[in-house]
Amino acid sequence: MRYYFAMKLFLDTANTDYVAEIAAWGVLDGVTTNPSLVAKEGTLRGVSRQADFKKVVLEMCKHVPCVSAQVTSTDFAGMKKEGEEYASWHKHIVVKVPMTTEGLKALSYFRSKGIKTNTTLVFSVPQAILAAKAGANIISPFVGRLDDAGEDGMKLIKEIMEAWSHYGFDCEVLVASTRHPGHIVDAARYGAHICTIPYDLFKKLPVHPLTDAGIKRFLDDWEKVKK
Ligand code: G3P
Repeated sequence: MRYYFAMKLFLDTANTDYVAEIAAWGVLDGVTTNPSLVAKEGTLRGVSRQADFKKVVLEMCKHVPCVSAQVTSTDFAGMKKEGEEYASWHKHIVVKVPMTTEGLKALSYFRSKGIKTNTTLVFSVPQAILAAKAGANIISPFVGRLDDAGEDGMKLIKEIMEAWSHYGFDCEVLVASTRHPGHIVDAARYGAHICTIPYDLFKKLPVHPLTDAGIKRFLDDWEKVKK
């Protein structure tokens, strides 16, 4: 059973095998992709980049109800064209738009058309508020990149959730650029709606050395009972 009042967990990847593997655990609520992740998988080296990307995204839509597909245009007209194309592929697709003034126009347009959006590259509370007011369904603050720059990424999440508690934004806060389990712990403590997690980090989450040691001890004791 899925408990939707809990923090949603997304996989941050463009690898469809990873999505199938983690989805089988019964804990996966969505996937976030971006051009860098797609390039890492080398999936767009064919003749038709659009066709390859579409294939990857549609495969993911079989496993989860929410797949973010990012526009690469930087102007409103281009974002509108790309986003409408992505949204026509599958109802699970969420159009990912960068946090720029052109992006704000696109968020507002997509909201008016009932197309779901995720605003990427959010690094401040004012950016978060503008994106939510423009109509974003999801905003994605990048906590790891703030940490890399010598700032405190999770402090931003805490501040955004505090601001959100005063208003009725129809906009979920997605903690992105997570690098270690502490980011996921704090995301849940601060009440973030969604956390997107890279594959290697996701694989670490079910593991604890005391769990392994405990299983071994149970099995060893069971062997003694059998004798
Ligand atoms: O979801 C955003 C994420 O892919 C960015 O992660 O590690 O490149 O900062 P990173």
